[in-house]
Amino acid sequence: MNCSKGCPAWLVVLLVVIRGALSANEAVLQVKKECAPGCTNRGNCNFETGQCECPWGYAGPACEVDRMSACRQTQDDPGSCGTLWPKSCECYQACQRLYCGGALQSSFCTHELGQFMWDAHCWVAKNPNTAFGSRLPENFASETTWYQHFPREGEAFSSSLELPGDRVGLSNWEGGHKVYPLEQCPNQCSNGRGVCFKWHHWDAPQCLCRKGYNGTSCEVEDDSEACWFSPTCGGRGRCRSGFCHCQPGFFGFGCHRTTAYRPATPGLLPDIRPRTKLKIYMYDLPWDIAFPYEYNDGHFGRDAMYKAYEYFMMYFLEDKAVRTENPYEANLFYVPMLLYFYIGNVRDPVPQATLVLDYVRKNWPFYNRTGGRDHFYFMTGDRGTCSIPRWMQDSCIKLVHFGMQRRGITWQGVPNSEYACVQVKRDLIVPPLNMFLELLPSGTEAHYQSVVANRGYDGNRTLLFFFAGGVGDGTEYSGGVRQAIKKLLSSLNPKPPDVEFVEGRASNYRDLLQTSKFCIAPYGYGWGLRLVQAIEYGCIPLIIQDNVYQPFEDFLPYEEFSVRMRLADVPHMVELLRTYTEDQLAKLRLGLAKYYRAFIWNREYSGMAYEWTLAGLERRLAHIQSEYFHHHHRRRE
Ligand SMILES: *[C@@H]1O[C@H](CO)[C@@H](O)[C@H](O)[C@H]1NC(C)=O
Ligand SMILES: *[C@@H]1O[C@H](CO)[C@@H](O)[C@H](O)[C@H]1NC(C)=O
Ligand SMILES: *[C@@H]1O[C@H](CO)[C@@H](O)[C@H](O)[C@H]1NC(C)=O
Repeated sequence: MNCSKGCPAWLVVLLVVIRGALSANEAVLQVKKECAPGCTNRGNCNFETGQCECPWGYAGPACEVDRMSACRQTQDDPGSCGTLWPKSCECYQACQRLYCGGALQSSFCTHELGQFMWDAHCWVAKNPNTAFGSRLPENFASETTWYQHFPREGEAFSSSLELPGDRVGLSNWEGGHKVYPLEQCPNQCSNGRGVCFKWHHWDAPQCLCRKGYNGTSCEVEDDSEACWFSPTCGGRGRCRSGFCHCQPGFFGFGCHRTTAYRPATPGLLPDIRPRTKLKIYMYDLPWDIAFPYEYNDGHFGRDAMYKAYEYFMMYFLEDKAVRTENPYEANLFYVPMLLYFYIGNVRDPVPQATLVLDYVRKNWPFYNRTGGRDHFYFMTGDRGTCSIPRWMQDSCIKLVHFGMQRRGITWQGVPNSEYACVQVKRDLIVPPLNMFLELLPSGTEAHYQSVVANRGYDGNRTLLFFFAGGVGDGTEYSGGVRQAIKKLLSSLNPKPPDVEFVEGRASNYRDLLQTSKFCIAPYGYGWGLRLVQAIEYGCIPLIIQDNVYQPFEDFLPYEEFSVRMRLADVPHMVELLRTYTEDQLAKLRLGLAKYYRAFIWNREYSGMAYEWTLAGLERRLAHIQSEYFHHHHRRRE
């Protein structure tokens, strides 16, 4: 076409679009790498890597190697490394190697069990030929030898390592709980889908079922917990103890994938990232790198407070607009570390995070392209990222609940004095999930409808403010806020009649949320739930958290629905709060009605925290594109 007199603008646009589309198509090709024959019998063929994705415990080109056989009671037992129920010493050794960098050590363990297995009682069958894995022989008192723990470096199974006879058969946990051979439980717990166990206070042993099974003999299949991310595996597979075994043609976490891509020119790293659309690629990691909690063996369960990232995962897997299977067009990369399953809420996140990031760095080219700046992961422990080393702080985008940014913090194990825990241009503070049974946000939507109908006025709120909870001492807990409020109220004489301060649990907590004008939202030892609870119950949050960024604070107008005070304002807080007029309070409540959805994850309760999180990620992406934050942050001295 000859546009010598100038092309019309629409044509230029069209040509640019076509050229863009062509080069995108030319730059990458679909690929379908074949896996070893037999892979799909037990696993899923990952077309991108050509490697078989195996269920927990299995390895090899076709998942034919059972790395956890020493931990299973039967072939039907998903196995576990938990310590509630003592296992064969060989099992604990295998687990220790798995969780502690391939060695029998108790340091740098990616899983918190690495600390517990080190000292766990275990047993060895006297006749190894008749023993299967960790199945207790029926007469185990005479057929097994029990040890205090597996032999460590330079140690051997010796009589000095043997367990005193009165401890044989007891759980590793304190309290006299006991294990029994499968034969003593109903239907042998469906051939080992659970273990036969007696908590001290029970009259008789019962089946403790593995995740994925339920019922008195574990005969009921129940995947709601085992495959929480997609109990039906997207309708494209079957859940097997936390692993989705997909129909052929599907692979990945929750069977969410069908397609894979490779560069058209081998060795090149095509860049077909759209500038205007959020596209997120999620890495699918093998089980020995990151796997959801697969067993039910006394290890910490899932905790409703720490499930926000589970909701992100659930919604992301079904998000066809944002999720992409083509990493060359992705402008952000989601690293599913599944940290809570490894370290719970307070243990060290660094070993597991290092393992996962190293794996991602080594096996895909994308991390090194930006030094991880366009990668993100959740770190939702109580103190989020506070204790991670500087390189980890400075690389990826972290999604946390705790936005502490005080400089020169003196808490133990906080290595970075420059900005403590987060950098708000890079990291994203997201709300935690409030799912306490008596405090579900099930009435929140209706409540705000009535608030709007009443133009923000709420005559039910007669208390000025309340606080109920732990107070603590020192200044580390809640930054001293709870202590300061307690001190203030005990100094007031007479105590204001419309203020409620309960040290400890308040049985009418929900009523207090519903009848107070303001609800105090301090933090604790790390992030807290009170901001979310206040918002879900229509109470104006009074945020007293010096130097702590709140969820989405950089793009959510907190001044429209909350009040912020400094610790230094606490001595005057009663007078300050009384200055708010009914009109001002009504306006703040209308602000709550406008924004409360940002603080609720559950879509069944009209939550939109997932969408707000995506919006936050999109802003981080814009920050990267505008070179707002750099990978290497070098200071010139
Ligand atoms: C298992 O069954 C018990 C008893 O019916 C029930 O209370 C419990 O919620 C079930 N567990 C799961 C995970 O569904
Ligand atoms: C990325 O860099 C790391 C550290 O320099 C290196 O070990 C790794 O092999 C690199 N990854 C790729 C895919 O080249
Ligand atoms: C006040 O309480 C009553 C009774 O519980 C309830 O019906 C009403 O909706 C409440 N008002 C507001 C604004 O929530």
